[in-house]
Amino acid sequence: MNLTERLVRYDDLQPCLTAFIDTRSPGSDKKENFTIIGPGVAENPDQHVHIKLPHGFNIGGARQPPGCLNSQHSHLTNEVFVVHSGKWAFRSGVDASDSEVILTAGDVISLPTDVFRGFENVGDDAGYLFAVLGGDDPGRVLWAPQVFDLAKEFGLLLMEDGSLVDTLAGESAREGLLPMPRTSQEQVSEHRVLDSDALEGIVIRSSDFHWSGNTVLSGFDGVEEVSLLGPANDAEAISAGHLHWPHEFVLRALRFSPDAFVPVHHRNEEEVIFIHQGCCCITVDGESLDLLSGDTLTTPIGSGRAFANEGEEPCIAYVTRRGDQPGAPGFNEG
Ligand SMILES: [Fe+2]
Repeated sequence: MNLTERLVRYDDLQPCLTAFIDTRSPGSDKKENFTIIGPGVAENPDQHVHIKLPHGFNIGGARQPPGCLNSQHSHLTNEVFVVHSGKWAFRSGVDASDSEVILTAGDVISLPTDVFRGFENVGDDAGYLFAVLGGDDPGRVLWAPQVFDLAKEFGLLLMEDGSLVDTLAGESAREGLLPMPRTSQEQVSEHRVLDSDALEGIVIRSSDFHWSGNTVLSGFDGVEEVSLLGPANDAEAISAGHLHWPHEFVLRALRFSPDAFVPVHHRNEEEVIFIHQGCCCITVDGESLDLLSGDTLTTPIGSGRAFANEGEEPCIAYVTRRGDQPGAPGFNEG
């Protein structure tokens, strides 16, 4: 796999417009879903997966125009969103009425397994969310009961194997395959109610990031790092993230001033780098790529990588790595 096969440019993202059961429901019918790394949770086998390599987590994306909704659902693993652009309302509860929080560019939310969540673009422009789902196999989506009813009205049936049958296109279910049962009241009652304070408690505002110049990686001029998700890690000289409970992956952010440079270093796990702002020249084993805002790169295990901000504005990147205590970066001697 060469380096360009590990890069997904924002401009090259391939959406699936029919990935989920709510894809025809009014308000949800314009959403674009992306599976960037890993199998994801799409119900449509036509969903394009950009990078199939298992990472211990899945990377996805959602792009929605103003007023577009992602219906209430829950997952079997943690779901984390980084707001790349737009203004988003995240709502909790089976009918979206338990609580609401508004997020803007750079903010992060980590949703636990036992909470129904949905989100709407409440801004004036299209918005994009970068998403991390825990595990190589995040399992299927559990939709709120009313999502099944609405989908049926618009010709979509969710089957027990997770596939969708489009009755408007004349499709019928494979023989012996039964529809997925509508989510029961018992399943709903296994979910928690989050009030407004509890919902705010799983959010990190970008204005509250505690940037540090003293981590192992940020000991270079113009480089700062902040831990967002995951416990403290002495090996990296990094304190606990604002959301510090174990996710089985960590999320950090890096900020590079113009001309900032991090020399060649190695890591023992893939490093998924998402450029939120500005641009960054990343050199991996001698091969250089200019990453632009919205681009995602995953570096090979053990490869040597260097970062340089050759642009005129600060660059902010979000970095996801597997495990709760990933190792320190290894810098070359001398
Ligand atoms: Fe989700």
